[in-house]
Amino acid sequence: MIDWRKKNPDCRRAMFKVHCASRRCERRVPYAADRPYEPRDTRVKPAPLTCPDTPPFTRQSTPGRARAPVSRICNNTSMSTRPLPDASAPTGDSAAADGVRIQRIREQFPAINSTQTALLDNAGGSQAPRAVADAIRDYMLNTYVQLGADYDVSVQSTQTVQRAHDFVRLLMNGDGIGEVALGASSSSLLRTLGDCYADALPAGSRIIVAEWGHESNIGPWVRHDGKAFEVVWWRVSRETGMPRLEELRELVKVGAAVVAFPHASNLFGDLFDVAAATKIAHGAGARVVVDGVAFAPHRAIDVRALDVDWYVYSTYKVYGPHMGAMFGKKEAFAEITGPNHFFIPREAASYKFELGGVSHEGCAGLLGLWRHLCFLAGEDAAGPWRRQTIELAFERMQEIEAPLQARLIEYLSSRNDVRIIGPASADPAERVSTISFVHKAKPSREIAQGANRAGHGIRFGHFYAWRLCEALGLQPEDGVVRVSLVHYNTMDEVERLIGFLDSAL
Ligand SMILES: Cc1ncc(COP(=O)(O)O)c(C=O)c1O
Repeated sequence: MIDWRKKNPDCRRAMFKVHCASRRCERRVPYAADRPYEPRDTRVKPAPLTCPDTPPFTRQSTPGRARAPVSRICNNTSMSTRPLPDASAPTGDSAAADGVRIQRIREQFPAINSTQTALLDNAGGSQAPRAVADAIRDYMLNTYVQLGADYDVSVQSTQTVQRAHDFVRLLMNGDGIGEVALGASSSSLLRTLGDCYADALPAGSRIIVAEWGHESNIGPWVRHDGKAFEVVWWRVSRETGMPRLEELRELVKVGAAVVAFPHASNLFGDLFDVAAATKIAHGAGARVVVDGVAFAPHRAIDVRALDVDWYVYSTYKVYGPHMGAMFGKKEAFAEITGPNHFFIPREAASYKFELGGVSHEGCAGLLGLWRHLCFLAGEDAAGPWRRQTIELAFERMQEIEAPLQARLIEYLSSRNDVRIIGPASADPAERVSTISFVHKAKPSREIAQGANRAGHGIRFGHFYAWRLCEALGLQPEDGVVRVSLVHYNTMDEVERLIGFLDSAL
């Protein structure tokens, strides 16, 4: 095959334009066809932007520095121009200071304040802060043009989309080791990944799939069972409700091409030791595909530390637009052929995977998340993106969530007519604030619907962890009652829910 980039970098672009013209195609050349992503260490940095919200990588931020007013001159990366107040607590750690801090955080989420219902169903989808919504709005009103052309607005739009990939890669701590593909959802990204491996692997390759997870990292493998793959189940322990590493050690002895499992259970919030499981899988030469959707709203993802090959999360559950994001190591991307058209070069890792491109305004929204994270970290959003800021922001979220989950678990554990599903630890090292339970007599449906009528936004069901419900002896349609808390929830909301449960159960 001819590598036309080596021969003449302009040639590919010219060919693509001809192709479009011959079909009267109005779409411009997508960004990555003209400007494929390159490994970070060799990438030409985008030109510094005039908007202090969209910092070039080279500038240093000053933690805790007073926030500079954001000027209106920049609309090129669709960032909000409104300065954010600092979310860090006022001096002292009194309850009053906590209250002020939470209030400031809640002000960033207009939707919370536009309903009487307490939004306690965040594992289904989080609210978006103003910074994200404003960025989407600004993009659509100012730079909503096709990518890849040389006129100024198109260059800006192209940068927005490329920088969104760069930002999400940093958010996952994947700089230098891999790339990020964006898509409509985690389910669609994982489904495509499964199909790509079905094409790439020899027929009958062993795929180990954890029963513990959401169907989106199960179905894409199981659908090829008996054809491209031989699926081997990694069962949950009936006693603990968790998969066991010892069992994985046994399973990989016979060999495995891929091991697919979640980072945290979306049903009961428990964290799994991904690094240990990855080490076992790699020892057998397998690739690891991790569903991080239930983990990502609560902790900073760190694909480098986990050493995973693939890691997927849903951006709409992490205070962003309705999209999915998938990190893949360079060598993992290199071994599959993505679904995009034949003339998109294989080395364009992300774009090879992004059939038809991605939501441009969604990319602008993803960039807006940086402002919210800086707000939580008490840092200046005008500074350059920093991994430490991201980690600090998620630490702040964890600090807020820990007492909420502790209180709810304490209450549920105190009742002898309620069973918490999964291990009942309140330790943030072991779980995130997604908590499910069943009542010994009342159906989950009745409890959740009663709570909804009383203004508590919770849910019931299997939450697409159908197989896990069955494995735990639960009837999937009625499933569990799930309460999922994030950093904008309050102790008052938890206490009111407890009050309801006290009267209803
Ligand atoms: C753990 C987990 N994985 C995957 C998904 C699917 O995500 P998406 O809606 O982006 O396809 C969900 C959605 O709820 C989830 O909770």
